[in-house]
Amino acid sequence: MFDLQLSTYILLLLFPSTLLFFFYFKSTEAYGLKSYPLIGCLFTVLENRHRFVQWTADVVNNTPTKTAIIHLPLGRVRVATANPTVVKHILKTNFHNYPKGPHAKDTLFDLLGDGIINIDGDGWKFQRQVSIHEFNTKSLRNFVEHVVDTELNDHLLPILATSSTTKATVLDFQDILQRFAFDNICKIAFGYDPACLMPSMPNAIFATAFDDAVMISTKRIRGNLPLIWKIKRLFNIGSEKQLRDAVFVVREFAKKVIKEKVAELEKKSSLVSVDLLSRFLSSGYSDERFICDIIISFILAGRDTTSAALTWFFWLLHKNPRVETEIMKEIVTKQESSVYDEVKDMVYTHASLCESMRLYPPVAMDVKEAANDDILPDNTFVKKGYPVSYHIYAMGRSEELWGEDWAEFRPERWLERDGLGRWVFKARDGYEYPVFQAGPRICLGKEMAFLQMKRVVAGVLRRFKVVPALDDGVEPVYVAYFTAVMDGGFPVRIEERGWIE
Ligand code: HEM
Repeated sequence: MFDLQLSTYILLLLFPSTLLFFFYFKSTEAYGLKSYPLIGCLFTVLENRHRFVQWTADVVNNTPTKTAIIHLPLGRVRVATANPTVVKHILKTNFHNYPKGPHAKDTLFDLLGDGIINIDGDGWKFQRQVSIHEFNTKSLRNFVEHVVDTELNDHLLPILATSSTTKATVLDFQDILQRFAFDNICKIAFGYDPACLMPSMPNAIFATAFDDAVMISTKRIRGNLPLIWKIKRLFNIGSEKQLRDAVFVVREFAKKVIKEKVAELEKKSSLVSVDLLSRFLSSGYSDERFICDIIISFILAGRDTTSAALTWFFWLLHKNPRVETEIMKEIVTKQESSVYDEVKDMVYTHASLCESMRLYPPVAMDVKEAANDDILPDNTFVKKGYPVSYHIYAMGRSEELWGEDWAEFRPERWLERDGLGRWVFKARDGYEYPVFQAGPRICLGKEMAFLQMKRVVAGVLRRFKVVPALDDGVEPVYVAYFTAVMDGGFPVRIEERGWIE
């Protein structure tokens, strides 16, 4: 979130004499983080810009309070925390003092408008109240049994089956899972199938425009000087022109789908479609801009998160065959149940997914902005306007929270045995494990995401083994944008298992 843009570094490095002056004068050091007047900890940031999440995680976890203050150039300050008490303070106890804030809203407005992901106050409350109905048990059951299952059986599994016939075929499994999640979320949000997951791996116009818009908006967030993108936007040049074009395609597309849906609903006396769009329209919300905004927010929230979680999950399974064997045992026992019940009761798989997201959270860190001066529970002073992040990645790797074996992938830490010796899921405090955020703004799609992921895990593992096609000793790299990805994709070979015993 607070990475710096190259142009800023270059500008600052043009003034070495100034820097030397400040260098000579005074620097302060707190827990390995050396700061200088004017440039803050620019040098350390530069050194670590390719492992920004990992570096900030180390900084936060090495600070005794688990809350670090990072000084950036030009007097800018960021607060990052991995302290559950502080996280609770930000996300719940003092929720009203930590909105998304005007900076984030401004940066993402062109893409997200006033959608739920980008809005605070009454507007946010209203959208949340309306959307929450989409996540009741009936809708979730329908989602798994129709949307996910159709996409799984008609598209994902056939593509894997074809790939498994030749050992030479290497697939980018991350790309496949992203396409799968994108088709799913569009069906949920719009009732429309963009058909991205097809054997030809098509370049769907809507998906490509959406990807471009997200990528450029991410660069805005990571840039150090908002003025630069604002000037580019004013003159409609470079990446800002690209963003405008991409957002135009996304919004025109959304408007077309909305118009068609309105016409469809006018013809029908009762609601047949179960998508989010139909629900909004049939509940009397007709403002096109509002509907577009909310739908775009949902697509953004629901697409790359589940694919990121599954990508790292399959990697960890390969490294931990014992866990894969346990999951296979669970899958076999669930075969006779209905699809919904099957996934709902997959306790060991559920624990394995939680454990995988602990080490590789789909959202690495999330930032709020202090509305007023505040003192955090660990006595850190926060000034009005300071960005305050809770560092999800750092928390998953904290020895204090998970013990000495925190680096081990061990689903059993989420489980206990009941009187009959069966596994029972043991949830962790939401502020120690804020992978889905926590408090009033907790992720609306949490349950939906678990259902989808468990269905995919069961469907894929029952038939196939996913074998990474990476050289021995090569570890994939976790990189965080809006959501985290495996840098360069996840090359795999698919092997047919044969019928499992
Ligand atoms: C593994 C999958 C997922 C993870 C780890 C995840 C995580 C998160 C996180 C960390 C946030 C807070 C982000 C922020 O405020 O900027 C969030 C918010 C949200 N998520 Fe998810 N999410 C997942 C899947 C989904 C899915 C599938 C949907 C919808 C279909 C969804 C819908 C939302 C919505 C609507 C919000 C905004 C809630 C609000 O601000 O009131 N998420 N999610």
